[in-house]
Amino acid sequence: MTNEELIEYALKARENSYSPYSHYKVGAALLTKDGKVYLGTNVENCAYGPSNCAERSAIFSAVSNGDRDFVKLAIVGSSGDDIAYPCGVCRQVIAELLPNADIICANSVTKYEVHKIKDLLPHAFTPDDVANVE
Ligand code: THU
Repeated sequence: MTNEELIEYALKARENSYSPYSHYKVGAALLTKDGKVYLGTNVENCAYGPSNCAERSAIFSAVSNGDRDFVKLAIVGSSGDDIAYPCGVCRQVIAELLPNADIICANSVTKYEVHKIKDLLPHAFTPDDVANVE
């Protein structure tokens, strides 16, 4: 699947955004190694804290359905001409579960950047850090 096709899926997911507080709609689409696409959107809450980002919605849905091998993740926000980059919490989740995937930070199918999480979250705290505790 092309980056543009995955961004189209993310744009579709964004239509489902539940964001009555921020009014900032986000869509995400996650491609697995075997070609499945999981969609995610941001789901807000009146207590604010329980809100969930689009990327984590997609990733948690995939893991919940038994998928763990990911090729690429597309994210689209809704801030004018701006490219949507994942928040810090989502970067931490991406570092754990998508260490090698392409992270497509998009505004539209014609305006996007492709990054690796090691560049978006340098010196990340990773599973290795808790693997060999004495
Ligand atoms: N949001 C995401 O869905 N992904 C991000 O990486 C950044 C922030 C959502 C959370 C909240 O619903 C809204 O955008 C404004 O912060």
